[in-house]
Amino acid sequence: MPEYAILILPSANRVYTDTSPRLLRAELAAFGDRVLTTTVTGTDTRTIGGVDYVILGTGEPLSEEDVAYLSNLSSAYALFEVRGELLRPLTLDPVALFDSDLLTIQKYTGKTNELFTRLLVNLTMLATDRPADLLRGARPGDGHRPPHVLDPLAGRGTTLNQAMMYGFDATGVETDGKDFEAYERFLKTWLRTKRIKHSAESGALRRNKARLGQRLDVTYGATKEAYRAGDTRRVTYYNTDTLRTDELLRPGSVDAIVTDAPYGVRHGSKARDESLSRSPRELLAAALPVWTRVLRRGGALGVSYNTYVLDRDELTTLLTDAGLTVVTDPAHTTLAHRVDQSILRDVLIARNPAS
Ligand SMILES: C[S@@+](CC[C@H](N)C(=O)[O-])C[C@H]1O[C@@H](n2cnc3c(N)ncnc32)[C@H](O)[C@@H]1O
Repeated sequence: MPEYAILILPSANRVYTDTSPRLLRAELAAFGDRVLTTTVTGTDTRTIGGVDYVILGTGEPLSEEDVAYLSNLSSAYALFEVRGELLRPLTLDPVALFDSDLLTIQKYTGKTNELFTRLLVNLTMLATDRPADLLRGARPGDGHRPPHVLDPLAGRGTTLNQAMMYGFDATGVETDGKDFEAYERFLKTWLRTKRIKHSAESGALRRNKARLGQRLDVTYGATKEAYRAGDTRRVTYYNTDTLRTDELLRPGSVDAIVTDAPYGVRHGSKARDESLSRSPRELLAAALPVWTRVLRRGGALGVSYNTYVLDRDELTTLLTDAGLTVVTDPAHTTLAHRVDQSILRDVLIARNPAS
């Protein structure tokens, strides 16, 4: 049976500490289930030459296409084929339309870690009825729009930036005006500094003459040639209450909803979540039916949440009540990990049934 050894990114070990192998194994199982051409016969951890690896066993050798998918694992640093005592390196080639500083420059309290964000995007895209879309952002093909990802609690845009890296269209909704302004400043400066061809417009967000907040619309091309040829991507950010999402986006216009829900705890001196009137449970209960309206049939939603303020069964019920089907296979039940003393974060992935 073919075996592969994966070295975990040192930064992932810092984020998840001793849980990073478990999260990587769950992610591998999801890739195996949804896109790999061969079956995943098992995953394990092993120390080779004093270094820890996650081991992937497969029915058949990995194809080039399989390696292309696995290149996007959120915490893989290097991939090797195990040959007896020896490790043969396989080249990872992740989809990354831009420099990684798009995801790392912004540092602020309450940021969702960028590796975790990639994990959430991956699991959600893989759960849709078009899991191959994960690689389609960079090359959507003639006449097709790239996948469209929505983060309806967008903060300062970590999900939007990961979507840009993958070549997806992205929409964010966020109520905090400071987050909007910080993201607008960051993205405009970053696009200019990197000399990326784009247009950016911002201004008041209005509906039926009422001012709801602010909006930012960015259209860009991964290269100058792509921009000139009209092969562009969009980032749209609405600074308003997420309960208005269905007034802003067309029904069924989103392929994947990816979001890190408020933790219901204070972040440093800024009581950002407490300053909001709704608890995470109330917020999700009200918002999930709204979000589901803009999610296409066959699309998927991935949400992370603090288990100290919302438990898995409760959130499962909220998702089910909104008409979604929660993914319950074993890999999806091993994703809980500690963020800090007051946050034990878990993930639920749910599908919008095809009909
Ligand atoms: C855990 S944070 C998301 C952080 C984001 N992923 C990032 O990396 O910047 C949750 C966000 O939900 C926002 N939020 C809470 N209630 C909201 C509402 N009713 N409408 C829109 N955004 C809301 C909060 O302001 C907060 O920024």
